[in-house]
Amino acid sequence: MAGNTTPITTADLRKKKADREPIAMMTAYDYPSAKLVEEAGVDVILVGDSLGMVVLGYDSTVPVTMDDMLHHTKAVTRGAKRAFVVADMPFLSYHGTVEESVKNAGRLMQEGLAKAVKIEGGKEVVPVVQRCTQAGIPVMGHIGLTPQSVHQMGGYKVQGRDVAAAQRLLEEAKALEEAGAFAVVLECVPEEVAAKITDSISIPTIGIGAGAGCDGQVLVFHDVLSYASQLKPKFVKSYADIGGMIHAAMSAYVAEVKNRQFPAPEHVFHASEETIKQLYGEGVGQS
Ligand code: KIV
Repeated sequence: MAGNTTPITTADLRKKKADREPIAMMTAYDYPSAKLVEEAGVDVILVGDSLGMVVLGYDSTVPVTMDDMLHHTKAVTRGAKRAFVVADMPFLSYHGTVEESVKNAGRLMQEGLAKAVKIEGGKEVVPVVQRCTQAGIPVMGHIGLTPQSVHQMGGYKVQGRDVAAAQRLLEEAKALEEAGAFAVVLECVPEEVAAKITDSISIPTIGIGAGAGCDGQVLVFHDVLSYASQLKPKFVKSYADIGGMIHAAMSAYVAEVKNRQFPAPEHVFHASEETIKQLYGEGVGQS
């Protein structure tokens, strides 16, 4: 957004919760998408490991590596100067020792220049959240549907539907808050459960498929733009058909190349008269 260029901080996000100002978060995976997302006024950019599916063509986020995350985080932070950039910690990058986990998180900040990391999981990730926070690495939690555990969960399903599961989510959110997380993503959680969690913790909740009661919302860039994304979950709202536009533009290009409409005279360069004479001989151009 034109005007305010002061970088957004975790304190700003906390204040937005207190002021009941919704937080707009969006994924981005490269320089141009980060720039466009920031210009639109997004508060938080997530370099999501969803890049494995929407950019790299895997069928889940499981194959995404630290190198993939670093490569894309570096591109995003070159494009976003004001938005608060959070980088996802990929599968198994925070399940070894706490020291290894903190080192991986630190790389996303030191080399990728992210402002924070996001970690999937509840109570089991509390020690990592605590150590990262102590080391000055802000952590965003992520509970509910945690895509890195898709094979264990048996698919992309709504979480926290019954009382026991809802209670577990509430306890996990509180545990993450207590461990020092500055915010928590709630993915595919019934609206009523997400609203209860939001009212029960002091840190912002960011919903994706978790209803309007959260402190903020996040969606995947490619889903919002209908840009060749593989899944179409119920919670996605598509605001443009970029995939359709690209398809039409590419088809038109191919057709114009095939029927020699492209390049047209306005797209070509010309050599000097002298060069043409030397190349083709005297009579060229006079017929
Ligand atoms: O990887 C991602 O894009 C995410 C969001 C769906 C929250 O984790």
